[in-house]
Amino acid sequence: MKKYIYFLFVLSFLIPFHESLGNEKEKFIENLISQMTLEEKVGQMTQINITVIAKGPNRFSSSFPMEIDDVRANKALVDYKVGSVLNTINNTAQKPNVWYKNISKIQDIAMNKNRLGIPVIYGIDAIHGTTYTDGATMFPQQITTAASWNPENAYNMAFVCAYETRASAIPWNFSPVLDLGFDPRFPRQFETFGEDPLLVERFGVEMIKGYQGLDNNVSNKYKVAACMKHFVGYHATISGKDRTPAYIPDNVLSEFHIESFKKAIEAGAKTIMINSGLINGIPVHADYNILINILRNKLGFDGVILTDWEDIRKLHDRDKVAKTQKEAVKMAINAGIDMSMVPHEYEQFFDDLVELVNEGEVVIDRIDDAVKRILKLKFELGLFQNPVTNYEDYIDFGSKKHQKLAYKSASESITLLKNSDNILPLKGKPSILVVGPNGNNMRTLNGAWTYSWQGELTDKFAGDFNTIYEALQNKYGKNKVKYVAGVSYKDGGNYYDMEESDINNAVTEAKNSDYIILCLGENTYTEKPGDLNDLNLHKLQVKLAKKLAETGKPIILILNLGRPRLISDIEPLTNAVVNIYLPGNFGGDALADILSGEVNPSGKLPYTYPAFPNSLIPYYYKPSEVQNNSQGSYNYVGEVNNQYDFGFGLSYSEFRYSDLKTNKNQYNLNDIIKISVNVQNSSEIDGLETIQLYSSDLYASITPDIKRLRDFTKVKIEAGEIKTIEFNLPVSELSFVNSENEFVVEPGKFKLSIDKLSKEIIIR
Ligand code: BGC
Repeated sequence: MKKYIYFLFVLSFLIPFHESLGNEKEKFIENLISQMTLEEKVGQMTQINITVIAKGPNRFSSSFPMEIDDVRANKALVDYKVGSVLNTINNTAQKPNVWYKNISKIQDIAMNKNRLGIPVIYGIDAIHGTTYTDGATMFPQQITTAASWNPENAYNMAFVCAYETRASAIPWNFSPVLDLGFDPRFPRQFETFGEDPLLVERFGVEMIKGYQGLDNNVSNKYKVAACMKHFVGYHATISGKDRTPAYIPDNVLSEFHIESFKKAIEAGAKTIMINSGLINGIPVHADYNILINILRNKLGFDGVILTDWEDIRKLHDRDKVAKTQKEAVKMAINAGIDMSMVPHEYEQFFDDLVELVNEGEVVIDRIDDAVKRILKLKFELGLFQNPVTNYEDYIDFGSKKHQKLAYKSASESITLLKNSDNILPLKGKPSILVVGPNGNNMRTLNGAWTYSWQGELTDKFAGDFNTIYEALQNKYGKNKVKYVAGVSYKDGGNYYDMEESDINNAVTEAKNSDYIILCLGENTYTEKPGDLNDLNLHKLQVKLAKKLAETGKPIILILNLGRPRLISDIEPLTNAVVNIYLPGNFGGDALADILSGEVNPSGKLPYTYPAFPNSLIPYYYKPSEVQNNSQGSYNYVGEVNNQYDFGFGLSYSEFRYSDLKTNKNQYNLNDIIKISVNVQNSSEIDGLETIQLYSSDLYASITPDIKRLRDFTKVKIEAGEIKTIEFNLPVSELSFVNSENEFVVEPGKFKLSIDKLSKEIIIR
């Protein structure tokens, strides 16, 4: 390390003051590269799992407490010159001081035992708060955040997470997920901002700003480098299962999947992770067109391209496009990969790549290109001067200040979907029975990526926070609120196994209560373990709901799930439905405040809530999806049968929309459309309302979507108040991608709509 501080010092005298830091950075990197051997370069392109260098039985499993093993670390970091490490040991969260101690040791070995003293870059998945740090602030998951329709919540989450990740001595975060979460079957829908491209873009950009700072100065010790993922089309599989084939036409890829990444790149996102699946039969990790033609050349992305977990290996093992491991390495690196998340058998990746360069199968310029980007990232993060940040400098870690922001996000996201006879908020001092497998645990409130990969350790780590049951007890008194599970998730089974615990007891208790708060949904999961064969809610949960309904007591159904499981069987039996998604450690408190009326709900669905297993379409479907005429004729009028529509969510206030106006009736392609609408809060309760502006292209050369969200804003409207809401919509935003793969606005008639109002305009 000393060598480089000296180098920077000398350099500062050699460079005239007016020359930018950019110039200094270039010179520094050029100088470093010019001294590096091929092996040193390939080491920089290698990322290993920390279990590989930690003490323990083998490279896949470590022992507690987490400690770096000298021999293993020297082999990886010095002999093989590995430049990056990720993850935690055995998928378990660590305390900030443990992170500090271990990452300090890693940097010490990498920087002092290698002749060039290049720091390691440590990366982690901190996707709704700092996942793998004990004591960190856990926010709602991305899907929940999107339901707030307030991108500020995404900024706050990333801002806090950057701080707390740096407090854990880690400068690089594999977040945000910018995938389009439009398939309710997909096991990672909850990691996205939902089904609408504009929501994903707006929230995604705020995450980048929160992580990297408004000036993108990631040498700031409170900021991390973001890693957008998973480029591109990851969720668009045919099967709805993780890492299975997708078939995506170019125009669809451009219009629906690429834009969120494009906007994040424009916002300065430093790194990107590649889709672990296949598009049109080609594994994305071997797709030169996607990585170079699109990502580098068209989108101008200049940062580090990282593989996902073992994905170079999978070109051979899983996808069978490479006959050997070595051929897989050649394919991926030549397709544009800069760093391989190996993460275990690093020797083979390293040896293969060195040989490939020596044999002329991978040119040295490609290696230099990758290594330059990696060194640039390390430089920008300030790692050469400040390789480890110290938790003692982070007094706000896990603070009340941070926790308040997580609570705020949860309370703005929770979505009221049904409220018959205004049964909510609960009146008076009722006696309450909390029932269901999701009623009394922190695990299901948080979802996966919470203290561990699959989230199974959450109750151990988050014991200080309130489950739904505990939060309601705090609100209404211990003797007024009871809990009976009724049915439970089976211990040690797969995540979907359930067992009947005490349905009869639940029914008996229900009879003695004023209200049943029925907490149903899912256990935690992500990736392959979350693949699903049946989108229906588990049959035991349905049975529980039906038995409880027989008591005649009012049922408030609380949905606590990572994707919309079908509830059409039991929804008619309920008096109210509240979707809390995965609201994080403060979800129980936020829900209790909403049920009691202390907080007025304002969340809106960021996805379509389907009613039937064979009707899984997002809100931007094509006209031919509407075929539900009872005579069986094709009249293409009517509606698709959703349980609840995208953008839907009730409030305790009542909002009335009127006077939708545009400043003109006809526009040219370069014009801006000025739209206004009046929204009145006709109730006696102050509320937050999200005003959503949609457009419909009435005729186009590619069958137009029924409608598309073009803008939105969430505002507070006081009881009785009327607000005029204005949007300025550039005509260019009405575009779609045509068969030539170009964004175009085709002149003609368009319909603009807000709530139930609409207005036609003409584009010339
Ligand atoms: C996931 C990524 C994650 C990576 C590292 C992969 O299995 O697909 O989203 O960043 O693991 O943990």
